[in-house]
Amino acid sequence: MEIFDSHGEKVRGWEVCNLPCANYPVKLKYPVPVKSESNLIRSALKRAEAEEGDRMQVEFLKRGASLTLQEYINGIVMMGTPAQEYLQGLEPSARGALCEKLGRLMAFDMLINNFDRFPLAWPNDGNLGNVMLGASQGSVVGIDQCVSLIKHPTGLQDYLGRVKRAVDEATKGAASRGRFQAVRDAINLNTGIELAEEEVAQMRSGVVSFMTELADMSASGALEKSLQSVSDELIAVTASLPARLDPMGSPGSPQLMVNEFCDLVRKAVAAGQEALSSSE
Ligand SMILES: Nc1ncnc2c1ncn2[C@@H]1O[C@H](COP(=O)(O)OP(=O)(O)OP(=O)(O)O)[C@@H](O)[C@H]1O
Ligand SMILES: [Mg+2]
Repeated sequence: MEIFDSHGEKVRGWEVCNLPCANYPVKLKYPVPVKSESNLIRSALKRAEAEEGDRMQVEFLKRGASLTLQEYINGIVMMGTPAQEYLQGLEPSARGALCEKLGRLMAFDMLINNFDRFPLAWPNDGNLGNVMLGASQGSVVGIDQCVSLIKHPTGLQDYLGRVKRAVDEATKGAASRGRFQAVRDAINLNTGIELAEEEVAQMRSGVVSFMTELADMSASGALEKSLQSVSDELIAVTASLPARLDPMGSPGSPQLMVNEFCDLVRKAVAAGQEALSSSE
């Protein structure tokens, strides 16, 4: 189903949240706060004719109190033949630069415990359907990411230990099969491309450069400023949404949740910083 405005053009200009601290084209799903755009979309939805399989979904969308939209990323997912052909078609230098960007995306994921992408700090098989390549928004763009809080203190310590080990491996390399080998295997399994050693090194360098930038931002106070501005934005958006209940059935506090998100980012940055300084 596609949504068209009154001129028959696809509705564009949806609000997306570019995480400023990440300096990276990561797009978060984000309810539209702009009234005029929201009205435009609603009136287009009212007129939308659904095909057989989409009928229920359209009814649901028409009646919903809030609309969640996301920017369309016009690339290809990092899976299957299209991704293989895309990667094979890149010049070596462009492929190296892309590996560096993959590394930066992995490092970003560690800040928010976004485990459903690359198996770097997480013992899973990865999900490369959450990486898009070759889009006009960027050669590597993450989709379908979210902050996953870890409430259990031991679980959190365990996670931060894995972040440290991943950053440590990014700086020094691994003695034997390490986490970057798991990422390399996942890329091979999903795209049929076996990355060369230098390309893995570029991925590692992406992790190190991202973590170093974040450590610098933390030291200068820029990280706090960034977290504050993202928090303010999120709080403003939640203020326009219907109240939500938390898993215990109590009214959820957006401020509390946002504070917890920020705290996870701070702790992951500190873990990365520790690994970086131990390798100096
Ligand atoms: N913003 C986007 N722009 C373009 N295509 C997208 C976008 N978001 C999702 N897709 C497409 O839809 C697919 C599924 O989207 P998404 O990953 O959000 O759903 P999912 O059900 O959570 O999938 P999974 O559980 O496999 O991660 C993506 O792999 C991609 O092909
Ligand atoms: Mg997905």
